[in-house]
Formats: sequence, structure tokens, C-alpha cells
Amino acid sequence: MTTPLRKAVPHVDRTRSNLAAEDSPVAGVAPFPGGLAAGSKLGPTGDDLDSRYDEVGYGDMIRALNTVHYAGETTFYGTALLRACEERLFSRYGHRSRILDVGCGAGRVTRAVTTLGGSITGVDINGAALDAARALTPLATYVEASMAGLPFPDGNFDQVWCLRFSFNALPTVAERQAALREFWRVCAPGGKVVIEVFNWYFPGRFGLLRWANRLDAAARHLKWLGQGRRGSLPLPPRDIIYLANKASGAAPGYAHLTTVKELRHLVSDVGLARHMKVTDEAGLIAGHLSPVRNRHRGYSTWLLLSKPSEDMP
Ligand SMILES: C[S@@+](CC[C@H](N)C(=O)[O-])C[C@H]1O[C@@H](n2cnc3c(N)ncnc32)[C@H](O)[C@@H]1O
Repeated sequence: MTTPLRKAVPHVDRTRSNLAAEDSPVAGVAPFPGGLAAGSKLGPTGDDLDSRYDEVGYGDMIRALNTVHYAGETTFYGTALLRACEERLFSRYGHRSRILDVGCGAGRVTRAVTTLGGSITGVDINGAALDAARALTPLATYVEASMAGLPFPDGNFDQVWCLRFSFNALPTVAERQAALREFWRVCAPGGKVVIEVFNWYFPGRFGLLRWANRLDAAARHLKWLGQGRRGSLPLPPRDIIYLANKASGAAPGYAHLTTVKELRHLVSDVGLARHMKVTDEAGLIAGHLSPVRNRHRGYSTWLLLSKPSEDMP
């Protein structure tokens, strides 16, 4: 079942835009009156996410929302420069590596890495973003596919990077697990999977971002209760619908903001716990990859999976 797009695109309240000016995908929360399709299943507990927010109903609706959102942000994701953390990533792991840039968008990273002489393939689910990427950086290779089903042979890349919150765009636990398995599969022995996710505990300026997200979740829940638990379900924990802040006129987007604890569970669930390190941006830039606590306040969390080389047990 495909949810019609008009259900997925929320009304935008312009008065609530740009709460956080930081470099983040979270600019303020937007109402989402369409909510989940009536008739979506409601599980017994809030933790039983996949029974309430199943891949077909919720997943399809969020993907439709994101398709429009990211198509509207190609000007930014095609041209913005590498950040210090990304320069560090390339200098540390990128030279002479076959890099896969997952959720490459309009080719911001592929363009920069190609200019630096690196070898990189971009993959994204959004055709419009890839069209923009191809126009801006014709020399790089681009493939249209979902990160939950990568069309590459096992061990095809030395580095699998999923940067600047592309992973936060995945709406269900099942899809996040599938993506992790795929990253690991296409990563060569001795290689690395590097994922940057937006941190749920990032407070934003004056703590406003966190408060806005929590209030928004509470308001959605109350509205649902007020409707006699009928109609739109509230969003799952730590899911937000935000106002686009990267390009004027772009439609609202979706993100599932993660915690360190949740990432550790996710990686354990796909059997990769012993290969994992979780650090923050400072840890990545400094190169010591020191572990971060669950409630760290940095805006991004970095998950690194190191695949043993073939001669290791
Ligand atoms: C925030 S943008 C980041 C773009 C790029 N990584 C960068 O750093 O400039 C997120 C990108 O993830 C892509 N994306 C979302 N879901 C995806 C999926 N299931 N598979 C592949 N790409 C996806 C979106 O289409 C979008 O281009």
C-alpha cells in the first residue's frame, strides 16, 4: 500500500521556523496533521515500535515526505564545503580507498573527494538529488538505490560512509538494521563503516531545540488522546518533522534522532557489537575516537565499525 503524498506533506507553520541556526537538519518542528494513516496498527506499548509504525504505512509515508524535502535542498547539498570532521575523515581513511558515500544527496562529499583525488561512489534514493549531483560532478559515479538494499557485491568498498544525518532519514528499526547489514556486507575486510547521526540530546541554542522537540511530541500525543485515540497517531519516540533550513522554499523533512544507547542496541541486534566504536565529532577530529556517554551534548554522534582483515580471526 502506498500512502498518497498529499497525506504525507504536513502543513507548514512558518511562525515556528529556524529555532536552531546550527548546522543541523533540525530547524524547528512542524505540525503533521495527516499523521499516520487511519487504521494503522496500535501496539500495546510505546516500545513496540515496529508493530505501531510498520514499514508499509509509516515507512512509505516518510519516504514520500523525504523525497519532496531532499529534492528541494539540492542547492545546498550539491555545493556546501566539507566540514573539518569530513576533511579529517578523508585524510585519515580516505586516501587510496574505494569509498562509498551512502545517502550522498546532490554530491557535496563526492565532489570534494573527487577534487582531492579520491575514489568515491555516491548512492542515494532520491533521483532529483542524483540528477543535481551528476550535473555538478560528472566524473564521480552515482547509483540510485536505497541504503537498505545496496546493489553492490560483497566487500566492494574499503570505506562506507553515511554522513551528515542520512541515516536519520530511515523511518523504521527494520530499515536501520537492514542498512547496517548492507554497509557491513559491502565493506571489504580491513575496511570501515562510518556513520554520522544527529544526537537526540543536542540542546541547541539555550536548550531550545530539545525543548521544542519534546513539546512537539507531547502536543501530538495530547492531540491524539483528545481525539479519543483515533485518527493520527503521535510520532514514534525521537521522530521529528522539521522545517527545512538548508534551502528556502524546501518542504519539511523527517528525522529520527538517535541516542548512543540506541545505536549500541541497534548494532548489537545485527551482531556487530564487538566491531563498534561510538564517539563524537571532537573524538573523530582528534583521532582518538574516545567513547561518548549516552547523554552527550554534541550535535552529532559518530558510529564506526571496523571490519577485521581476512587474516584476522
Ligand atoms: C541530509 S542529506 C545528506 C546528504 C549528504 N550525505 C551530505 O552530507 O551532503 C540526506 C540524504 O539521504 C538520502 N536518503 C534518505 N533515505 C535514504 C535511503 N533509504 N537510501 C539512500 N539514501 C537515502 C536522502 O535522499 C538525502 O539525499
